[in-house]
Amino acid sequence: MNKITAAITAVGKYLPDYVLTNKILETMVETNDEWIVSRTGIKERRILKEDGKGTSFMAIKASENLIAKSNLDPKEIDLVIVATATADMQAASTAAFVAAKIGATNAFSFDMDSACSSFLFGMSTVAAFIESGKYKKILLIGADKNSSMIDYKDRATCIIFGDAAAAVLFEPNMNGFGMQDEYLRTDGNGREFLKVLKGGSAYPFKKGEEFGTDEGYFVKQEGRTVFKNAVFNMADVSERILEKNNLTKEDINWLAAHQANKRIIDATANRIGLDDSQVMVNIEKYGNTTSATLPLLLADYESQLKKGDKIIFAAFGGGFSWGAIYFKWAYNTK
Ligand code: UT7
Repeated sequence: MNKITAAITAVGKYLPDYVLTNKILETMVETNDEWIVSRTGIKERRILKEDGKGTSFMAIKASENLIAKSNLDPKEIDLVIVATATADMQAASTAAFVAAKIGATNAFSFDMDSACSSFLFGMSTVAAFIESGKYKKILLIGADKNSSMIDYKDRATCIIFGDAAAAVLFEPNMNGFGMQDEYLRTDGNGREFLKVLKGGSAYPFKKGEEFGTDEGYFVKQEGRTVFKNAVFNMADVSERILEKNNLTKEDINWLAAHQANKRIIDATANRIGLDDSQVMVNIEKYGNTTSATLPLLLADYESQLKKGDKIIFAAFGGGFSWGAIYFKWAYNTK
C-alpha cells in the first residue's frame, strides 16, 4: 500500500482594509520611504484597526474565504490549528473560538506558537497527524495581529510588522504529493534578541501599570543580531534540505521563505542558487506578518502553482526558531 502523505488541497486569506504606507510612517517616526524600501523591501502593511477585534477575527475571515472557494463542509474538519504569536486572550484557545465560529463543530482545536516559525512547525505537526491515518481534514491557519504588540514610536520595529491571516486545508494523499521532508531547529538562547518581555508569566501585568507607556509590553529586537542569525540559518537549512533530498536548484520550482526582510529572502535564494522568478515575494505589500506569512504566499501565488511543483518553505523567527520543509504541490487551480 502507498504511504499516506499530507497534501494541501485549498487555501484562503484575509487582509485588513487599513493600509499603513511608508509615507504615513514618515509622519509617525523619524524614517523615510527610501530607507525602509532599500533596507527591508517593504512599501506598505495592513493593520486591523477596530477595537475588540483580535487575531481570531482575521483567522475566521481567512477560513471562510477557504471554505467558500473550496465548497468545504466545515463539519467535515477534524482538527483546527491556529499558528499565532498573538492569541486573542491568555488561557482561552483562539483556535477553539475560530472552530466554533466557522462551524467546525466536529473538530478539536489548539493554538501553536513559535513566533515567525509557527506556521512552518504547524505544517510538520499537521503532517504527522495526517500520516498517522487518524485525521482526514485539518485546517491550519496562520494569523497574527502584530499591531497589538508594536510600539508605533519605535522605528526599529513599527516599519516591519503588519497584520494578516491565511488558511490552508491539509488532506491525505496516496500519490506522494504534499509533505516530503523537514529540517526544524530552535535555540532558546536567542530569546533575548527578539521578544515581548512583559505580559507573560515571567513578568505578568501588574496592577497600576498602564499599558502603552511601558516599553516592556512591546516587541523589542536587536535588529542586526536577528538579521545575521536569520540570514545564516535560513540559508543553511534550505541548503541542507536540498542536499538531504538529492535536489539541485534545477529541481526546485519555488522558494516560499518567511518575509521579514527582502535582503534575508535574497540571501537565502542566492545560497541555493535560485533565480528571482523562482522566489515567492509579497513583503512589499504586507511587511512581516509573522505566522501568516507562509500561507499568505501560497494564497497569493496559488494561480501560478502547478500540480507537482517542488516548493522549499523556510522560516526564521523569535526563540530563535527556524527550519525548512520540502513540499510537493498537489493541484492546478481551476
Ligand atoms: O521575523 C522575525 C525576524 N526578524 C527579522 O528577521 C528582522 C531582522 N532585522 C532586520 O530586518 C534589520 O536589522 C532591520 C530592518 C530591523 C534594521 O535594518 P539594519 O540594516 O540592520 O539597520 P540597523 O539597525 O543596523 O541600523 C542602521 C542605521 C542606524 O543608524 P546609525 O546608527 O547608522 O546612524 C539606525 O538608527 O539605520 C538607522 N535606522 C533607521 N533609519 C531610518 C534604524 N531604523 C530606521 C528607520 N528609518 N526605520
